[in-house]
Amino acid sequence: MDRPLLVLVLGVAEQEEERIRAAAPGADVVFAPSAADVADRLPDADVVAGKLDAAQLAAARRLRWVHSWAAGVDSALFPEMVASPVVLTCSKGNGAVPLAEHAMMLMLMLDRHAPRWLRAQESRTWDRFRHGELAGTTCGIVGMGGAGTALARRAAAFDMRVLGLRRRPELQVPDVERMYGPDEVEAFAAEADFVVVTAALTPQSRGLLGVDAFRAMKPTARYVCVSRGGIADDEALLTALREGWIAGAGLDAHAVEPLPADSPFWSLPNVIITPHNGATTAQTARRGVDVFVDNLTRFVAGEPLRNVVDKTAGY
Ligand SMILES: NC(=O)c1ccc[n+]([C@@H]2O[C@H](COP(=O)([O-])OP(=O)(O)OC[C@H]3O[C@@H](n4cnc5c(N)ncnc54)[C@H](OP(=O)(O)O)[C@@H]3O)[C@@H](O)[C@H]2O)c1
Repeated sequence: MDRPLLVLVLGVAEQEEERIRAAAPGADVVFAPSAADVADRLPDADVVAGKLDAAQLAAARRLRWVHSWAAGVDSALFPEMVASPVVLTCSKGNGAVPLAEHAMMLMLMLDRHAPRWLRAQESRTWDRFRHGELAGTTCGIVGMGGAGTALARRAAAFDMRVLGLRRRPELQVPDVERMYGPDEVEAFAAEADFVVVTAALTPQSRGLLGVDAFRAMKPTARYVCVSRGGIADDEALLTALREGWIAGAGLDAHAVEPLPADSPFWSLPNVIITPHNGATTAQTARRGVDVFVDNLTRFVAGEPLRNVVDKTAGY
């Protein structure tokens, strides 16, 4: 090449800059908050790490590779990106540990009616009541990638029976007693005391849990979502919660974010809401940079990249 590689790195913490530069010696590495701040450099960029919209992608005529800081690339896969030959990689696995911890927290909070203690504490009330135990219950995990696998391990350590549902059920995971495919969602849902969604949002997984799945669940079962809203059909979930088809829900990811102030989910007594906050840790951000640094080294050496997104499958 007759000019140095141009790498635009968007929205990364300042302390990460040195190790990113070190991964591509001789390259022109430019750091900026967003693509709009380096619009004049886009036409010459070979690599972008961060978010691009369709107009920015069109402007980046020499672009060969985009890395997403997110694990889920549903919003990065707009039609122009799907159609373009630019390679897209993602940071999948970055939030596996905190999402699994968040799912455990939501299951424990739901099972122990923890909001009741918090409310009682506000009025200095000694409110003792009977609650559940996770041990001996069945945790049904939708999605068995980084987050699902990390959750399976933790649920098994709590002596829960673990079931999985994934797009490729032939892939087995330790701690999972039985793996189901997406066409077996009702049979899977009927077995679980907790249905926990950790899957990617894709054209195929959107609406995977609808009326039939919630109808199949036990009236004592709880629904938890830590990956993306939209995998459950919100109307079906609302009806299930209001009419007692299921006992409750813990929701970190929502179909519309921020969850609108007039959303009925806020005021349901059997729902715990967290604001897409399950993986907001320093380690999550660092692991995303780890993937990019490794891939940048590979890109410079002409080696295959990790975490390449299958644009048709959507993750
Ligand atoms: N709340 C947050 O802050 C936060 C942070 C990080 C990630 N996330 C979300 O969490 C998701 C999972 O992260 P990860 O690191 O575990 O990603 P991952 O390793 O890519 O795992 C994605 C999983 O989704 C499964 N899947 C895809 N389509 C499916 C379908 N139609 N039915 C059932 N399962 C399907 C895949 O199944 P196969 O393995 O069988 O192909 C895979 O196991 C991300 O996609 C992202 O949306 C949220």
